[in-house]
Amino acid sequence: MGRHAGITGWGMYVPQRVVTNQELEALVHTTDAWILARTGIRERHIAADHETASSMAIAASREALERASLAPEALDLVIAATVTPERLFPATASVVQHALGANRAAAFDLNAACSGFVYALATAWQFIASGAYQNVLVVGSEVYSRILDWEDRATCVLFGDGAGAVLLQAQERPGLLSFVLGSDGGGADLLYVPGLGASPVERARQDGRYHLQMNGREVFRFAVSIMADVSRQAVAEAGLEMEHVELLIPHQANRRIILAAAKALGLAPERVLINVDRYGNTSAASIPIALCEAVQSGCLKRGDHAVLVGFGGGLSWGALALEWS
Ligand code: UT7
Repeated sequence: MGRHAGITGWGMYVPQRVVTNQELEALVHTTDAWILARTGIRERHIAADHETASSMAIAASREALERASLAPEALDLVIAATVTPERLFPATASVVQHALGANRAAAFDLNAACSGFVYALATAWQFIASGAYQNVLVVGSEVYSRILDWEDRATCVLFGDGAGAVLLQAQERPGLLSFVLGSDGGGADLLYVPGLGASPVERARQDGRYHLQMNGREVFRFAVSIMADVSRQAVAEAGLEMEHVELLIPHQANRRIILAAAKALGLAPERVLINVDRYGNTSAASIPIALCEAVQSGCLKRGDHAVLVGFGGGLSWGALALEWS
């Protein structure tokens, strides 16, 4: 078996319940027109009470394994990218590993917020490139509905719940081609959720509530420039030109951010996957869900080159170029 790595299975899960912009009009002072114009979002899926990041991750992961016809016992490693686990520990990945029956696999969670899936995929690739492992499951799963302040119109309209998973396997031919990851903790206060270990001062400031806090305008500015920069870097590291990229699969935070980044890259809108209208921002799940839809809809075909690009809390960012095989 080679030390190259390729995606051989993919799966996704979203909760059944769909919440439209009109429904949010009844909750906060907002309008369907504002949400659609400023974000491109029409609706999002919201988890039922019994659903968690691990239950959704398990459903998406089962689909990915089935698609690749790989028995769970053959998995070497499970990496879960999530910042909304139902337990801080054990890792969501351990819950997924057990539920799948992946009894040989190691498991850990990775926290890079909305960049989590790209970070996790790049990490999985290194385990294969080193020769240590052959079969690695990477899953992004989030229930942001549980960390949102449903009285804050500036944030509660933006996010949704869901999970997406891929199986990465060792192969003879290159599949994944390059990755670029980055971090600027100087932007930590622009997008965060206080943790259980917050200082008493911070706890008092949060008034016992642990909700997502965001400076939307600053994150917007950062997102547009970093998405273009890091995509260019990943394409160059893969030895490609942007014109060779058939499909950009960006983190789905805001249609305006995606289109601005695409324009900066000289990519026509039809070469960019956008499904934020139906899911909102599902954080670490957004790129694998978009990847699943790209493959299912025939937007991503054998031999195509694609760039996955994410950004988010950290601040963090990452891009990964691949050839779909
Ligand atoms: O995964 C990464 C996560 N985060 C992001 O990607 C967020 C990046 N930022 C954004 O997507 C945008 O900044 C937002 C969608 C959050 C906001 O759009 P914007 O065009 O930057 O609007 P703004 O923050 O400049 O606000 C414009 C106005 C404000 O009113 P005033 O101060 O001009 O009177 C807001 O209070 O829109 C108001 N506003 C709303 N109005 C109706 C904010 N949220 C809403 C709302 N409905 N839901």
